[in-house]
Amino acid sequence: MDNQLDHRGYWDGDTDTNRAGKRSLESMAAERFSRRQTIMGSLQASAAAFLGTGMLAACDFGGDSAETFLVNAGQNASVPAGRTVTLQASVTGTANERGWRQVSGPAVELTGSGDSVTFLAPGVAEDTPLVFSFDARDGDGNVAADTTTITVNPATLAFTAVAKNRNDVVTVPEGYSVTVLMRTGDPIAAGVPAYRNDGTDTNFAQRIGDHHDGFAYFGLNDAGQKDLTSSTRGLIAQNHENLNNQYMHVNGSTNVSSGPRPAGEALKEIEAHGVAVTEIRDTGDRQWTWVQDSSYNRRLTPMTPMMLMGPARGSDFLKTVYSPAGTAGRGTINNCAIGVSVWATMMTCEENWAGYFRRPDSGANSDNANRTRRELTSLRRYGVTSSTGSYAWSTVQSDEPVFRKWDARATGASSTEDYRNEPQQYGWVVEFDPYNPAAAPRKRTALGRFGHEGAWMGLPVSGKPVAVYMGDDSRGEYLYKFVSEANWDPADAAAADPLAMGDKYLDKGTLHVAQFDADGTGTWLPLVFGKVPNRPAVDDEPEYAFVNQADICVNARLAGDAVEATPMDRPEWTGVNPVNGEIYLTLTNSNASNRPLNGTDAANPRHYDDPKIRPGFEDMDENATVSQVGNPNGHIIRLREDGDNGAATSFTWDIYLFGADSVDADPANVNISGLDDSNSFSSPDGLYFSRSTNPAGQGKPLMWLQTDDGAMTDRTNNQMLAAFPGSVGDGGARTITNTGVGGDTAQQATFVGAGATPATVKRFLVGPVECELTGIDTTPDGRTLFAGIQHPGEGGEPDAPTSNWPQSQSGNQTGRPRSALIAITKDDGGIVGL
Ligand code: FEO
Ligand code: CA
Ligand code: CA
Repeated sequence: MDNQLDHRGYWDGDTDTNRAGKRSLESMAAERFSRRQTIMGSLQASAAAFLGTGMLAACDFGGDSAETFLVNAGQNASVPAGRTVTLQASVTGTANERGWRQVSGPAVELTGSGDSVTFLAPGVAEDTPLVFSFDARDGDGNVAADTTTITVNPATLAFTAVAKNRNDVVTVPEGYSVTVLMRTGDPIAAGVPAYRNDGTDTNFAQRIGDHHDGFAYFGLNDAGQKDLTSSTRGLIAQNHENLNNQYMHVNGSTNVSSGPRPAGEALKEIEAHGVAVTEIRDTGDRQWTWVQDSSYNRRLTPMTPMMLMGPARGSDFLKTVYSPAGTAGRGTINNCAIGVSVWATMMTCEENWAGYFRRPDSGANSDNANRTRRELTSLRRYGVTSSTGSYAWSTVQSDEPVFRKWDARATGASSTEDYRNEPQQYGWVVEFDPYNPAAAPRKRTALGRFGHEGAWMGLPVSGKPVAVYMGDDSRGEYLYKFVSEANWDPADAAAADPLAMGDKYLDKGTLHVAQFDADGTGTWLPLVFGKVPNRPAVDDEPEYAFVNQADICVNARLAGDAVEATPMDRPEWTGVNPVNGEIYLTLTNSNASNRPLNGTDAANPRHYDDPKIRPGFEDMDENATVSQVGNPNGHIIRLREDGDNGAATSFTWDIYLFGADSVDADPANVNISGLDDSNSFSSPDGLYFSRSTNPAGQGKPLMWLQTDDGAMTDRTNNQMLAAFPGSVGDGGARTITNTGVGGDTAQQATFVGAGATPATVKRFLVGPVECELTGIDTTPDGRTLFAGIQHPGEGGEPDAPTSNWPQSQSGNQTGRPRSALIAITKDDGGIVGL
């Protein structure tokens, strides 16, 4: 539009015959545009003209009327979303007043003054023109103006793909930098000594835990107060899922397989689990560091007092020595992914908690004789069947509950005289307020008990229920959705007591489980007492009849079985597209026993062999491979709720992306998304959409993907990719030919999304040796991206570590590896990824 007027520069001034008074630049601009529209008949100027921030306030109406007076607003230009644009005008003559203002297009904030201002190109879904005007007046009152059109294009993945590699370093694209922040053991309380990293350190209750996993950034203003918009100071609330226990002690763990464990070792290992809240600051120009003595710093450990909320609160299932009323518990463990509520609390999710408990399911040490058939059905369904528990903590010779509680055998007269119900304390979504270290976390039992990976909320809609999407991470487990009874009130987003909002929205509502149908639709099946049938008998387990809603929440897996939910290939992170509300779910992988050739379905459609070079032979001329059969590379499914309504009971779905080794995969039936060297990946886990507070989360939002892979590690360490996904239905129906190891084939129909290209999926980062990428968030401005590096060197030993990261990030190839949080920034200060 308006091409004829651009760069015309001089406006003849006859609009300015009236010299009465000192009119504002705004009013004269409005007048000029109104006349222009009349005269030229083509200008689509905004009637509500407003000034840019760069107007000169001083006025001098003296001047030389004979002087030539022209302005030039510069060339029209195109720019991708997320870039900083400079508008530079030039003036011929002497301008006493001048300024930029926006005429049309999505409103942007103009920063700067005078002839030169800048703005941030907003996120857009399609080419979008923004028109700006530079207006000036000379001392005689002559007005000159010119417009320029900046067309904002949808964002691009404006970085060179990082090559697959097996180096012991975090590799990011050129133009980006990595800062290592909190590492395992770093002190987060005043007076706690620096971590020596030689196995002698103690007091993990005041140190960063191990195995960094899901986390979120919560802003603070300069005064240290809650400010969700701040991008320069904030809190990181991060999960510490598990341990590289061999590096925690001088010579590794003692008697870890069956005990007896030394108390000191066990205490360190217990306290290194949980969650850490740590204040971080940008000390200038995106130089991040953490604040050891911040009053916000906090650890949640497996012994921190917590409240039990929702339908299971006070039920027999939760009565323990600690809380005979069944209303309180101690601690959280195996915290995996997270959610952030719309009211800015953290929801930390308990994943593989079952294995920590000692409860042999057979033999002389078993408590089976003291258990009911119903209890055994539940315990077996959740895997509370370990002979000693993962780290044999209950073998410590001590009466302290911190050790005793891991022995879940029924040995006392009732559940309040032993720890038989302790396993029921875990497997929940746990909500806490990162800004309030004094407030006890609240376990939200309405959201069900299972191996919670994460809990992501759907887009909130005023007056409608809040929905939470949750994966249960084990092979053959389900996707769940909780729908609140209360309707969303946007005023609650800033509630003074955020945990009371959790009470309002997360304690009453309906838990659902997903059934994916072969026609590309699906159904949310409500898990409501009275509607859920008995869970049928399985092998020697009798039929299981639910007794109340608490039973359904505590035994959500059994309820999912009863309603015939669809078993999925390890449901991990959920994410929600901030623009269209579609729900994404990573399905990490599966194996041949859980996904056999004739056991595929439309939503889990692949069975194949991905050959892998024999471990240890990756860098040799060695062709021998090992078979990996089933769905070893995983896929990502996405859903669109009917009516875009979080409370819908039905949805449509397709498979957004299939993981594959692009080197050796069958392009037709395995590498279905068409991955290449720049974007091939395996075993998707972390999935995160950029925040809608910056251009990366607007228009065509940028999605981040992290891998937890062991199948393609012959070619690369674990990695992180950036992507621009389309939407459900952008591909079509497809029939795959699956091939078993014996050569038998089977057909499977499914629905696949549009294929990947280097423009839509690109590798952004490769992690150090034997790590997993865990957790993603950004500052609200998108200019710092944080990521978790979990368990580098997990296969090594104290005297022979297989990684030296993070020391190796700065070239030091010595020392024990540590998990850590990293901050990634763009050297030009731009938005990460764009
Ligand atoms: Fe803790 Fe499923 O990853
Ligand atoms: Ca392979
Ligand atoms: Ca995970």
